[in-house]
Amino acid sequence: MKRVFSGVQPSGVIHLGNYFGALKRFVDFQDEHECFYCIVDYHAITVYQDPKELSRQIEDTALYFLAAGLDPQKVTLFVQSDVPCHAELGWMLQCIATFGELSRMTQFKEKSEGKETVSGGLFTYPALMAADILLYDTDYVPVGEDQKQHVELCRDLAERFNSRYGPTFKVPEPLIPEYGARIKSLQDPTKKMSKSDPNPLSYISLADSKDEVARKIRRAVTDSGREVVYRPDEKPALANLLSIYSLCVNKPISEIEEMYRGRGYADFKKDLADVIIQTLEPVQKRYSEYKQSGVLKDILSNGAKRANEVSSAVLKRAKEAMGLSTLIDPVKRTI
Ligand code: AMP
Ligand code: TRP
Repeated sequence: MKRVFSGVQPSGVIHLGNYFGALKRFVDFQDEHECFYCIVDYHAITVYQDPKELSRQIEDTALYFLAAGLDPQKVTLFVQSDVPCHAELGWMLQCIATFGELSRMTQFKEKSEGKETVSGGLFTYPALMAADILLYDTDYVPVGEDQKQHVELCRDLAERFNSRYGPTFKVPEPLIPEYGARIKSLQDPTKKMSKSDPNPLSYISLADSKDEVARKIRRAVTDSGREVVYRPDEKPALANLLSIYSLCVNKPISEIEEMYRGRGYADFKKDLADVIIQTLEPVQKRYSEYKQSGVLKDILSNGAKRANEVSSAVLKRAKEAMGLSTLIDPVKRTI
């Protein structure tokens, strides 16, 4: 069995990009591997979060993990700030990462562009992400294309640490899906579907009602022409819609092109709305069931306990390798 680790930020809505690029894939791993899935609230506070809203979002994100089909008996689901080792190793890795390599991170460049001030945390964020991953002796990190650069930095930091201080960390590998790695905005196919997009027409939230889904798909931009064909360079908006269709029905794009041969965009869009609605229905049903059942707190407490056990042993190894003090044993948290 291999170890899998991934994280999702509890900020903003969870959309179809998160579902196909992250949550649904997380579920696919739970039968074969030992999985740790983390709601990364320390990452979320790199930009201001309203405290009440943040705690609501942590709960909501956890509920959507479960609604997507994660089985709390099989996976360890936990909240990052419940496990102190993350912040501790995060600091140690900030001291391994260089200013130059952190400056080259495209997510930092994008998120800081045009802002008058940004937090120090936004800049050092990738070192915390590396800590998240390395604390679990992780083999695989399933993420969307946008996170590949961060996982590569994590690998570099692990290798640098190991060569400076002796073998300590397992060097993980990113798992980027072939399809669904980057679902695009419904309003602008040059941008990824993003929860920080101010225009709600650009994304489908997992909480959207049938009417909202139908309306958003009707209003989604398409390209000139009438044929339903997958040509990402010529027809990027349609290519994105075809990818979404294919992910919802779990069939290759070529089969869908075949189905719509000789039919126009209107037919295709109407059916696309239907298949999205059918995809969301069971997720929304499980979401309400979990919410009403009141079991979430126990699931997250058990998750934090298990995550603490595993990560504190790795933190101890890293502190000893660096020559830091371990009078307070990171495993027992007492002298
Ligand atoms: P975030 O919402 O940025 O915290 O991302 C959570 C997870 O969803 C990460 O694994 C991302 O790579 C993935 N993700 C976010 N947006 C998209 C998108 N538009 N398409 C595919 N995956 C995405
Ligand atoms: N940076 C990731 C994102 O924005 C979230 C994340 C934090 C993560 N720590 C992680 C993903 C560790 C994978 C592994 O999507």
